[in-house]
Amino acid sequence: MPKKAEGEVAFRPMQISDLPQIELVENESFTAPWPRQAFYNELVYNQFAHYTVVTVDGKVVGYCGCWLILDEAHITNIAIHPDYRGRGLGEATLTHVMEMAKAMGATKMTLEVRVSNTAAQSLYEKLGFVRSGIRPKYYTDNQEDAIIMWVTLNEQGKRNLGTGNRNQLR
Ligand SMILES: CC(C)(COP(=O)(O)OP(=O)(O)OC[C@H]1O[C@@H](n2cnc3c(N)ncnc32)[C@H](O)[C@@H]1OP(=O)(O)O)[C@@H](O)C(=O)NCCC(=O)NCCS
Repeated sequence: MPKKAEGEVAFRPMQISDLPQIELVENESFTAPWPRQAFYNELVYNQFAHYTVVTVDGKVVGYCGCWLILDEAHITNIAIHPDYRGRGLGEATLTHVMEMAKAMGATKMTLEVRVSNTAAQSLYEKLGFVRSGIRPKYYTDNQEDAIIMWVTLNEQGKRNLGTGNRNQLR
């Protein structure tokens, strides 16, 4: 049975006034969290950046960032506050961002994920992302490799499950 979030779930663009709550989510989610200023720079100065927050009963509990460059979308980050994980919010948020990117003209989406982050990899694979390569020592805090993943955002609204290179890295 899929788990459901209690409360009213909504998505909206991230605002500067969200940054204190985003910082909380970020610090609870990553060993090398982005500082508040990094999000500020993305919101104010990066014309390619689109950041979405997910709210439960109006409270910001997670976010997903995406850069849209021509027909390519690049997920920069996604996180859900630990108290709100395992309820489908990560999946709903990424699905929302995939639909938004597609509506804005993206035909494919990519991201990097730590080799050790099997929970996130499972989420991405559930949404149709497939592994396409490795960036060695991509994460500078511990020299961990990144897995590169891609998904096609097709015009019918269905994601290409792309079994072609699914097993390439196994
Ligand atoms: C990855 C993350 C965003 C998932 O958010 P979430 O709201 O807990 O995920 P959901 O409840 O929507 O789960 C959706 C799917 O993700 C996968 N998943 C989520 N948590 C998982 C876990 N602990 N172990 C294995 N798979 C997991 C499953 O495939 C799950 O589908 P299922 O419920 O049908 O099994 C969340 O764990 C998080 O914020 N982690 C810290 C930040 C991070 O690692 N971000 C990714 C950086 S690349």
